Amino acid sequence: CGIVGYAGGRPALDIVMDGLRRLEYRGYDSAGVAVVDAGAATLLTEKAAGKLVNLEKALAERIDTGFDVGATGIGHTRWATHGGPTDRNAHPHVSADGRVAVIHNGIIENFARLRASLEADGVAFTSDTDTEAAAHLLAGSLVAAHADELAGPAALAEAMRRTARQLEGAFTLLAVSPDAPGAVVAARRNSPLVVGRGDGENFLASDVSAFMEHTRSAIELGQDQVVLITADRIEITGFDGTPSSGTDLVVDWDVAAAEKGGYDFYMLKEIAEQPQAVAATLLTRMPDLDFSGVQKVIIVACGTAYHAGMIAGYAIEQWARIGCDVELASEFRYRDPLIDEGTLVIAISQSGETMDTLMALRHAKAQGARVLAICNTNGSTIPRESDAVLYTHGGPEIAVASTKAFLTQLVACYLVGLRLAAARGLSAPGVQEALRAVPDQLRTLLESSGAIRELAYDLATARQVLFLGRHVGYPVALEGALKLKELAYMHAEGFAAGELKHGPIALIDEGTPVICVVPAPTDALHDKMVSNIQEVRARGARTIVIAEQGDEAVAPFADAVIPVPATPALLAPLLTTVPMQILACETAAARGHDVDQPRNLAKSVTVE
Ligand code: G6P
Repeated sequence: CGIVGYAGGRPALDIVMDGLRRLEYRGYDSAGVAVVDAGAATLLTEKAAGKLVNLEKALAERIDTGFDVGATGIGHTRWATHGGPTDRNAHPHVSADGRVAVIHNGIIENFARLRASLEADGVAFTSDTDTEAAAHLLAGSLVAAHADELAGPAALAEAMRRTARQLEGAFTLLAVSPDAPGAVVAARRNSPLVVGRGDGENFLASDVSAFMEHTRSAIELGQDQVVLITADRIEITGFDGTPSSGTDLVVDWDVAAAEKGGYDFYMLKEIAEQPQAVAATLLTRMPDLDFSGVQKVIIVACGTAYHAGMIAGYAIEQWARIGCDVELASEFRYRDPLIDEGTLVIAISQSGETMDTLMALRHAKAQGARVLAICNTNGSTIPRESDAVLYTHGGPEIAVASTKAFLTQLVACYLVGLRLAAARGLSAPGVQEALRAVPDQLRTLLESSGAIRELAYDLATARQVLFLGRHVGYPVALEGALKLKELAYMHAEGFAAGELKHGPIALIDEGTPVICVVPAPTDALHDKMVSNIQEVRARGARTIVIAEQGDEAVAPFADAVIPVPATPALLAPLLTTVPMQILACETAAARGHDVDQPRNLAKSVTVE
């Protein structure tokens, strides 16, 4: 979910809505706002299921009702967990006495118990969410704080601390109350929250993109902290009330980088930005982490980042001759993995907030592993909790489906692989030079992407699409299939080409599109892959073959060839993935889908 809060002299609604537009990639099942009109001390809320535009429409009908003057506000864009994506489950949730409005990101794990006890006290719930329990608890705590002779913002902050102490699980909670006009209070445990420090105004948000057009000065909150903002104050305490502080952060992202800049979709813009993103990441400074004595590497990640990890596994084993397991972060700790001080765990995450990855890294640390994060988001939780971080320089990635973040993750992984090899007295000749050539090769590839677009129109009507690859081409096939599933909502599957004959080949019938990733003609696996292409073609498949420029051997078995520039085998995914991204994006657009915000997904998933 995405969360925004504002306290200051300008109309809060405009700022909160702008912030939500920038955070919508974090979830778009519903959206809502609450605004406190300081003059009249009234609380106004509006919410609507579906994307932000539905909330905009609902607000347009209420604009003269006081929403326009409130100087304090909170807003939420939801990725549903407890309770379906309906109007009544949309945030904010208002307490039964109408004195507080609350928005929430995360999952309150003891919610069933809290709800039962509140209901036993006669509180009537109006939604299925875990958040509503927090709203009622907060209202009760506010009454108690008033009874202790606290008033205004101080009472609301104390009420939030009392509430947070009763909650288990992961949460960022934001609240406003007409009893504390001019103040927004927040609590944070395990879910992201940053403060933006403005001039006569302050902000709260899930990430800096929500307020970076207003201020570049931010504070990253720690675990179990409560923060109170007013127009001119930021007060941070622990849940027990002890004064505390966060970590200062300067936002160096360019605002324009988070805008569409003439492209139809963020995704197309982000695909086009890959040459610069890769070039910038190649200049990344290696973190000060002692790589000597590493006996084993484990990579944990989710989704697209997991595919980057799979590719990294091949490179690390080959260059550094060190064992490397690659594991889905959500599965990792449940198999009680063998970890010790000689284990280097690499957590890969674009957002730095993915809860599955965070939990995997905490488990690894608790077992004594060294943890290195590869991350695109400065100051996010995963790098903060790791021993060292290697930042990818992709810049803000807004489209939900990951593109430039993936390529930059690969670059970072290759750099780590080279470093591990060096620490063991090994080298990978020619790789550095080949990496330096990639940005220009990507430019060439992107310039000739028109033909790929044509192919997408044919794919759009297919019933299913299969992807085949071998060695590093296998994770590329998985990534190609994931992209098509995410964006085009089509049945798509990636296979190790050699495995096809052991079952999945039964899926192929007349005209089934099969996208094949072929290694370079000089590669030992080239001919085997060409044989696999012949096998599927013999069963009626329509083959789209991604092969090295000038590879004549594939032509007789390909209905279409997408040529990519030559590079060493292990680096090929930096190039062969790009046609897959374009195919998925264009196929989804041809099917009339929202490319940047595919259904049911969110860019950063902060629940397990
Ligand atoms: C979500 C996104 C995926 C992404 C995954 C991991 O599921 O929809 O595109 O790959 O999370 O995200 P991370 O931020 O950890 O790289």
